[in-house]
Amino acid sequence: MSLAATGAMRRFARADILLERLSYTYPGAQTTALSEITLTIAQGEYVALLGHNGSGKSTLARIIGGLTRPTSGRVTVAGLDVAEPTNRAQARQIIGMIFSDPDNQIVATVVEDDVGWGLAARGFAHDVIWQRTRAALTAVGLGGAYGLAPNELSGGQRQRLAIAGVLALEPSVLIADEPTAMLDPRSRVEISALLRQLNREQGLTVIHVTHLLEEAAEAHRVVALDGGRVALDAAPVIAFADLDRLRALRLVIPDTALLAERLRTMGARVANDALTPEALVAALEQNREQAPEQGREQAQ
Ligand SMILES: Nc1ncnc2c1ncn2[C@@H]1O[C@H](COP(=O)(O)OP(=O)(O)OP(=O)(O)O)[C@@H](O)[C@H]1O
Ligand SMILES: [Mg+2]
Repeated sequence: MSLAATGAMRRFARADILLERLSYTYPGAQTTALSEITLTIAQGEYVALLGHNGSGKSTLARIIGGLTRPTSGRVTVAGLDVAEPTNRAQARQIIGMIFSDPDNQIVATVVEDDVGWGLAARGFAHDVIWQRTRAALTAVGLGGAYGLAPNELSGGQRQRLAIAGVLALEPSVLIADEPTAMLDPRSRVEISALLRQLNREQGLTVIHVTHLLEEAAEAHRVVALDGGRVALDAAPVIAFADLDRLRALRLVIPDTALLAERLRTMGARVANDALTPEALVAALEQNREQAPEQGREQAQ
């Protein structure tokens, strides 16, 4: 059951993110980390934020999350200037963040206490804390983890727990900065699928920072940074059509995309965003089903 299904509605119905000529230079640094970024992310979008090491992804994530103040330019979320220190508490309510290491966000020794901790710190009533905790744990698939200590959970489960802690605050936007970086391949897929599900079922805006193209395949939109600038902003099916462009952005092309490229040159019909082994197999099966018909057409 999703949070929406429990009736726990988001407090901010529309939280579009507007970035206007946003720049950032770290104190004392010679080069700018972000240059003149202008971008709009609508409420409910799932954006994969890609880019090679040092391209500026985390800096941008932190600025949108209100953790870092831009050197120049503006960032508003739901009309709120998140860089304004006086708006900090409200920004934290609207925007949730998770990072690579969930252990940095886990504070309690029992799963349900950890989820409810943020609400308790904000003075919510006990029954609200309990209801939101239950809904958040169910939404992340940890409905069976009550009473466990976080260190009894796997890495993937601890990342789910960190997500639940954020969901309990009912944000409109979730920024996930390389949330799968420390996970095994199976947990990576599961966490990406969970983010997509939360986006679909709850209308949560998701900004998923990753350097893995395969994690971007399901996004509505791929935004790639290069040297602190937006170098690409397109739907995955468009973005992945030009592998040479992605190579030029120093992104690692997954083996599945290389295989798909080979298959296309051999005449198979494989969509550009078929980047997982499952999507490739499905595309090949479809080709096989269509092949006999094409053979018949040619024979006629
Ligand atoms: N605390 C800091 N002080 C000075 N420069 C920094 C600091 N953090 C990052 N930078 C620089 O800012 C630029 C952008 O870094 P950022 O961490 O945002 O990139 P990223 O795309 O998240 O990289 P990664 O893929 O390695 O996580 C890089 O040139 C980096 O060296
Ligand atoms: Mg980073």
